Amino acid sequence: MTATTQEVPANPIDLLPDVVDPPSLEETPAQKTLLNTVFRSMKRSHDMFYHHYEDYPEFPDIDEHYREAKLKTEYKSLVAAVAETKRRKEEEQVNLPKNVPVIAIGGMTSESGAPLAITGPSESENDSAAAASSSQKSSNSRAVAQVPSSSKTGPQDNTVRALLPSRAPMVVKPKWHAPWKLYRVLSGHTGWVRSVDVEPGNEWLVSGGADRIIKIWDLAKGTLRLSLTGHISAVRAVKVSPRHPFIFSAGEDKQVKCWDLETNKVVRHYHGHLSAVQDLDIHPTMDLLVTCARDSTARLWDMRTKAQIHCLTGHTNTVASVRCQATDPQVITSSHDSTIRLWDIVAGRSVVTLTNHKKAVRALSLHPTLRMFASGSPDNIKQWKCPDGEFYQNLSGHNAVINSLTCNQDGVLVSGADNGTMQFWDWNSGFCFDRQTTKVQPGSIDSEAGIYSMCFDRSGSRLITAEADKTIKMYKEDDTATEESHPVMWRPNVLRKKMY
Ligand SMILES: *[C@@H]1O[C@H](CO)[C@@H](O)[C@H](O)[C@H]1NC(C)=O
Ligand SMILES: *[C@@H]1O[C@H](CO)[C@@H](O)[C@H](O)[C@H]1NC(C)=O
Repeated sequence: MTATTQEVPANPIDLLPDVVDPPSLEETPAQKTLLNTVFRSMKRSHDMFYHHYEDYPEFPDIDEHYREAKLKTEYKSLVAAVAETKRRKEEEQVNLPKNVPVIAIGGMTSESGAPLAITGPSESENDSAAAASSSQKSSNSRAVAQVPSSSKTGPQDNTVRALLPSRAPMVVKPKWHAPWKLYRVLSGHTGWVRSVDVEPGNEWLVSGGADRIIKIWDLAKGTLRLSLTGHISAVRAVKVSPRHPFIFSAGEDKQVKCWDLETNKVVRHYHGHLSAVQDLDIHPTMDLLVTCARDSTARLWDMRTKAQIHCLTGHTNTVASVRCQATDPQVITSSHDSTIRLWDIVAGRSVVTLTNHKKAVRALSLHPTLRMFASGSPDNIKQWKCPDGEFYQNLSGHNAVINSLTCNQDGVLVSGADNGTMQFWDWNSGFCFDRQTTKVQPGSIDSEAGIYSMCFDRSGSRLITAEADKTIKMYKEDDTATEESHPVMWRPNVLRKKMY
């Protein structure tokens, strides 16, 4: 495959991991279909996006690119942590008796009672909760990982550890974020609004509701542009393709539809689910669609031919949420069976099962740039690292049925729950900087406070929520807020008084 593209600058699509390598000597028919799809898709993507990369003749391998970005972030976090430790030590010498460990910060807990160290995505040496299935991978901290694996443990380890101020409470001050304020309410649906998404050009948004209708709204003006009918039960998921003039929708009628935005008609159906479809996602670089349903499966579809490439089985209850990304794991699902699974889309099987949650996991969100994702359950919100699903940290305190999670480029993670509560978190520190409860619109009864779906617009500056009071609400940052007017209350004792 690389041979055919040698005369042009490296196409990053060609360099995507694994998928293009035939997995074994004998491919199953499904794998052949997938490989064909992959090939056609890469070619199309190349034709479509080739010009985007002309300016970057040496555009690196995508994985390399991510790794670099991640290293930079890790490095920054480390520098910040070291600076913070120094500052804290100085402060402690002035103010506090010695040996007072900081036990908890923000919403996070440390069961061991040890100071929680946060330096970057690699901090997990004390993580007893790491997934069993990923434990064969290194779960040591970055510092330890740099020790040649052949070296003896004890003294070597200590030497390396001594280079870091690892005994001091390394606590990163959370990044400051402005509080978010409601600024617009869109009414028009006659049932719960179950799903929202914003199109890549950031001009309009699409919503799907229990009234079986899909609506398209102007993002700037908030006006209704169009209503699409076709589903015969509640619409549970809508997504706009980032690369085609298509909307994909799925509903409790088991149907998955592709709408052509030029004709506003359904142009394809994807048949296979045996019960209500709960969520869907679109592969960012290949013409693949993933859906998940109450039939405990997720299904991978060839967007063009409507062929089911794989039925992803393994979950034992409703699969509530699915996310798709260009690098492994390319498909992540979460289920009412309280597990999260990471899937190999060539082999069509799950490669990692994360069992840390104890209750149904209804929400997943990818971080837009860090190779991480978050999962939401009534027991906790948890963050994980790709590709292996290594546990990163708990975000504790939103003890409600979390239906939705979303994260913007600025590292603002929002969790939205069944009873209308929303919490805003700083991704890196896991600190909860704001809590709100949605205001039910007149005409609705109180029990109809509920958030079913959320997304940020493409700029990350507007938050859009789909709610049980039949409205869509839009939030933006309060631009009158400053770090002085809304200081980060991040000291644990201060925090308890203010926030609980
Ligand atoms: C995270 O939360 C779970 C409970 O959901 C708990 O068992 C685990 O010990 C916590 N891990 C850390 C590192 O705080
Ligand atoms: C939301 O639900 C959680 C869990 O049931 C509860 O603790 C919390 O008080 C509820 N909040 C509101 C505003 O109803």
